[in-house]
Amino acid sequence: MNEQLLAQHHDGVLVLTLNRPEKKNAINTGMWIALREAFSAAAADDSVRCVLLCGAGEHFCSGVDLSSFTEVIPGQEHPFESAARAVVEFDKPLVAAAQGVAVGGGATVLFHADIVYVGESLRLRLPFASLGLVPEWGSSYMLQANIGAQRAAELFYTAEWVDADKALSCGIAAAVLADADLYEHALGKAREIAQWPVNALREIKRSLRIHHLPAIDTAIRTEQAGMMRQAGSPENIEAITAFMEKRAPDFSKL
Ligand code: COA
Repeated sequence: MNEQLLAQHHDGVLVLTLNRPEKKNAINTGMWIALREAFSAAAADDSVRCVLLCGAGEHFCSGVDLSSFTEVIPGQEHPFESAARAVVEFDKPLVAAAQGVAVGGGATVLFHADIVYVGESLRLRLPFASLGLVPEWGSSYMLQANIGAQRAAELFYTAEWVDADKALSCGIAAAVLADADLYEHALGKAREIAQWPVNALREIKRSLRIHHLPAIDTAIRTEQAGMMRQAGSPENIEAITAFMEKRAPDFSKL
């Protein structure tokens, strides 16, 4: 296990903690690989009956590490892709606890959690348009499935911030907790789930997910094709350069 992805077992619950708080838990290449391995191993291990995904410190996750984004080799699969697949295909209950920043992949992973609890400090954003990119992780489908087409379109096109109350009212979250109570609440619910037989939980998950999996597959393939066109495009380079230089992007001359 990678020290930037912590794993702890609690009575049938595997708690996975993104642990890079100094970068608001941005996920780098090593963490994507660790995530893929952790979800694949958890699926194969019957002593794990539920996974709880959370972030160390005050924030859940600021998404793909933008400083490693340019390491992507054209034609080669980014380790994000196989990690995303391992989460999509995970066959047992997935609970998430998110507080503070949840941006990009740090937001779209939540749409695959069976239950999402959020802290009052939640600030969620789908920044793809502002980065000259397209949605990922099947989110172009999953967000519509979770909250409806118009509200999903609004969040993707405007890249606006979503706070905890809005996340609850639109259906991204199941409940809002005080930040100090979030982890214990989510762990308590995960433990409640993990008291039941693993095969029953698997069958329930299969029944819940079966409707979505073909659509997620189509969404991921469409998103990947769009990403191939947009990653490394002038607007994407301007957006990432602006982020590194801590300034606003200027798309006016492109
Ligand atoms: N990739 C790499 N580094 C990141 C990061 C990311 N996705 N998100 C945050 N960081 C780093 C910052 O560069 C900063 O590093 P530094 O202290 O060495 O300068 C540190 O984490 C703290 O972030 P900072 O930007 O100072 O915090 P903030 O509270 O002002 O803003 C965010 C937080 C999340 C709004 C802002 O960091 C951001 O927009 N990050 C990019 C998120 C993103 O677009 N992710 C999706 C990629 S598809």
